[in-house]
Amino acid sequence: MKIAICGKGGCGKSTTTTLLGKELARMGQNVLVIDSDESNFGLHRQLGVELPRDFTEYFGGKDRAFKTMMTSGILEQMKLSAFAKKFFSEDWTLSDIPEEYYEKKDGVMLMSSGKIHQANEGCACTMNSIIQQFIMHLQLREMETAILDMEAGIEHFGRGTDNSMDIILMIIDPTYESMQLAGKIGELARSIEKPILYILNKVTEDSRELMEGAVEDKNQIAAVIPQNKEILEAGMFGKELLIREREIRKLAVRLMGYGQMK
Ligand SMILES: Nc1ncnc2c1ncn2[C@@H]1O[C@H](COP(=O)(O)OP(=O)(O)OP(=O)(O)O)[C@@H](O)[C@H]1O
Ligand SMILES: [Mg+2]
Repeated sequence: MKIAICGKGGCGKSTTTTLLGKELARMGQNVLVIDSDESNFGLHRQLGVELPRDFTEYFGGKDRAFKTMMTSGILEQMKLSAFAKKFFSEDWTLSDIPEEYYEKKDGVMLMSSGKIHQANEGCACTMNSIIQQFIMHLQLREMETAILDMEAGIEHFGRGTDNSMDIILMIIDPTYESMQLAGKIGELARSIEKPILYILNKVTEDSRELMEGAVEDKNQIAAVIPQNKEILEAGMFGKELLIREREIRKLAVRLMGYGQMK
């Protein structure tokens, strides 16, 4: 199953990705987490691994990959490896991913499309296009799950990345912006006929009712994660997230059931 995790900046996308990835791995799934956020450097730390090498490097770096994608005819003339050529046109599986491009711990693999490392090195379009191709051609077997930690906002819907996903999880935190975005993301998911579930995050007694009100169909609220001191501290110091959340377990079970029905 391919799961997209989205929401506004700072709502808890990477935190949820990590907790869910670890929980699914405990349940025996082979999990691939894809970091598609070019600006953040926190997800690998939450997962307790090193930052993987930018996958864009596999295509010779951003510049070269950009040219490849803009002018598909040029592909044949380029000295790309067999897999890099195949990547743009054929389906492939988890075991095809070259091992220099992922980090793995406790059943969770992490890949990163690429980060912006210095000024003037170009926009993130190339990395986004690579991720889009990657997820589109990725064939998952039984007991394999891919979780895509999206960049903040809704541009990924515009780009069409979500078209290849099986389900969309939107994280809502206790802010006006987040609650407004819930409606918009719900609409976008419906327009591409994708199921959507919501996760209420950083919930306090005072905010719970208001946050629940942001989701029209309460059955779509798949987890309610409280404001948690351990998560906050791990975030502050860039530590691995080792806590287990009952609500995440519930979410993982629901997703596995959904995956079997598919
Ligand atoms: N339930 C929670 N309780 C307390 N703190 C939380 C909780 N969830 C997330 N946080 C904290 O909120 C901050 C943002 O979380 P996270 O990095 O997961 O968000 P994000 O949506 O991935 O952000 P970005 O848009 O920057 O990628 C982090 O410092 C994290 O530790
Ligand atoms: Mg993040």
